[in-house]
Amino acid sequence: MKFIDLFSGIGGFRLALEKSKFECVFSADNNKYACETYNKNFKEYPLIDIKKLSAKKIPNHDILCAGFPCQPFSIAGKRKGFDDTRGTLFFDIVRILKEKKPKVFILENVKGLISHNKGKTFKKILNILSKKFNGNINKSNRENLGYNVFWKVLNSTNFNIPQNRERVFIIGFTDQKINFEFPKSLKLKYTLNDIIKIKPKKIRRISKLSKGYIDKHLRKHKSYNKIKNLNYLVANEVRKSRCNFRFDNISPCLTTKMGTGGNNVPYLVNQNRFYTLEECLLIQGFPKSFKLTNNYTEALKQIGNSVSVPVINSLVQQIKKKIK
Ligand SMILES: C[S@@+](CC[C@H](N)C(=O)[O-])C[C@H]1O[C@@H](n2cnc3c(N)ncnc32)[C@H](O)[C@@H]1O
Repeated sequence: MKFIDLFSGIGGFRLALEKSKFECVFSADNNKYACETYNKNFKEYPLIDIKKLSAKKIPNHDILCAGFPCQPFSIAGKRKGFDDTRGTLFFDIVRILKEKKPKVFILENVKGLISHNKGKTFKKILNILSKKFNGNINKSNRENLGYNVFWKVLNSTNFNIPQNRERVFIIGFTDQKINFEFPKSLKLKYTLNDIIKIKPKKIRRISKLSKGYIDKHLRKHKSYNKIKNLNYLVANEVRKSRCNFRFDNISPCLTTKMGTGGNNVPYLVNQNRFYTLEECLLIQGFPKSFKLTNNYTEALKQIGNSVSVPVINSLVQQIKKKIK
């Protein structure tokens, strides 16, 4: 089975599909730092702008994977959706699906996509992909794609990954008879404590001023006495006016915002340090041996943008049961 890795980022999809012995025949991402990381791990530098890519140039494949850029749909963003040109990258996926007709597609996006524009955006996406679509991508493109479509929000914590990361997955099959079942939740046996007990060589600390904010918010916290000494007490999005704490041995969601500075990397309060890049990778289910670009802020963005690899592993296992 052959697959393509669109909006490939650092290759979270690729790691999972290759583990299942699928062969990657094409990758594309227009960010040179993401390509640098990709190249270090997969010996390929897929610098391609998908908007300018002719679908005819893509090799034939069985599975199309795409975690398409989520900024236009994320709740954190300005909710521009399809009005934002980046949002229209979805239509590039449609264009490619139409030309290549792979047996299966796996799309991933932020959960906010479902409620965006009162659910209209998501409905439009599902309609375009499935049988019912009757909209117009443009005049020459009116038919629907006719896929047998399934979707679900999956949280990484349900796949033995200690991160509260909810993402929507849309899976489509050309075979209309398939009744796809999303993977069942697994018990969380691997916790944040397992990851942070590995003592890092190089650490980064928050400014004194921000550390003061953490301490002030912590003292006011209703569970202060219970949580103050926990090894895995995490402060996230530290601001003067607010600070989120997480103390259930599960990490807050790692987002691309981590790369924008401003205390957006989760902070281990009792170790007085930010997560390291290695910890961020493990919290996304990447192997320890995974190599990143040397650009720290770009590396943080890349990890926040990626998929949790074990979630894709489980999805692929389910897909494998349905396709020949
Ligand atoms: C949400 S991330 C996907 C991450 C990926 N699934 C992974 O496992 O790392 C979206 C990616 O789309 C890329 N991108 C955005 N616009 C693009 C375009 N026009 N052509 C190709 N890639 C693009 C970004 O650079 C980013 O790496």
